[in-house]
Amino acid sequence: MKKIGFIGLGNMGMPMSSNLVKAGYDVYGSDINEKAEEAFQKLGGKIGVPVEELSGICEVIFTSLPSNKAAEAVYFADHGLIENSTKECIFVDTSTISPELHQKIEKAIKEKNGHFLAAPVSGGVVGAVNKTLTFMAGGSKSVFEQASPVMKAMGENIFHISEQVDSGTITKLMNNLLIGYYTWGVAEALTLAEKSGLDLKQLFEVLNVSYGQSRIYERNYESFIAKDDYNPGFTLKLLIKDLQFAMELSEQQQVELPLSKELLAKYQEADTEGYGDLDMSIVYKMIQDRNSSNKEEERLV
Ligand SMILES: NC(=O)c1ccc[n+]([C@@H]2O[C@H](COP(=O)([O-])OP(=O)(O)OC[C@H]3O[C@@H](n4cnc5c(N)ncnc54)[C@H](O)[C@@H]3O)[C@@H](O)[C@H]2O)c1
Repeated sequence: MKKIGFIGLGNMGMPMSSNLVKAGYDVYGSDINEKAEEAFQKLGGKIGVPVEELSGICEVIFTSLPSNKAAEAVYFADHGLIENSTKECIFVDTSTISPELHQKIEKAIKEKNGHFLAAPVSGGVVGAVNKTLTFMAGGSKSVFEQASPVMKAMGENIFHISEQVDSGTITKLMNNLLIGYYTWGVAEALTLAEKSGLDLKQLFEVLNVSYGQSRIYERNYESFIAKDDYNPGFTLKLLIKDLQFAMELSEQQQVELPLSKELLAKYQEADTEGYGDLDMSIVYKMIQDRNSSNKEEERLV
């Protein structure tokens, strides 16, 4: 396999596609944002081929899109991927979108005798840059085996979950439900620790080798909180999207998840307060700010 398409050159798609270029593939990038396409061209990618022509050229086409709406547009629009799919081309969606939409895309592509894997990724922008992503793929095992050498140029752990197309998607939603808990937990624990006079750097050193350790604590503390820089990363809005999908799944499965429901409501509140486009670790700052304004109010009473 030599020619690869990549649609969605954002925080994840740009480093992923750039690693494909570095691995020696001819990579055809596409994004609605012209600046992203220009940046990709500077990294050695090819641009300017319309989406409808990509499946005639590429053996595998990856998508990395921010929402159901964007994925619907790329796959189902007139002149979109499905209308022009060929049986020679494998489509791999690495976006975290709803399990239903992945089923719908698979059905439509199969009707055109094409091949589709839903393969969300974990590991963040750092993992995308360093080729250490985890892929969680659902769909045909033989199609997975054909596409996995290309995934290996972008990641370290490439899993085939099952032939059920949304099995990787559901696996990913469980991952992000836990990320939601860890992120909020780290934010509250660190706020209390700081107010109680602890040094956050030392706390991290100690807890990082204790049971309070988590990869999210490490990520959120080292890359964002310690630097007081909340440029994303993984935006709060994207986390909310994934928690919403997890809650929809819990309703379909008739599983009561009271704390998770509350957690989603808390993140939605943070979004309403204007934190949505920052990295999810911003909830630490938000909780800290709320607590310092509480103190101010007490002093004034
Ligand atoms: N950022 C992370 O840490 C992370 C980690 C794992 C998984 N993900 C998932 O990966 C996906 C992408 O995340 P991201 O952080 O890169 O998002 P992003 O918003 O940075 O990038 C999305 C890109 O898609 C482009 N796009 C939107 N609509 C399009 C369309 N119709 N046609 C072509 N391009 C279009 C945007 O212009 C943007 O460049 C999401 O589903 C997210 O949940 C993100």
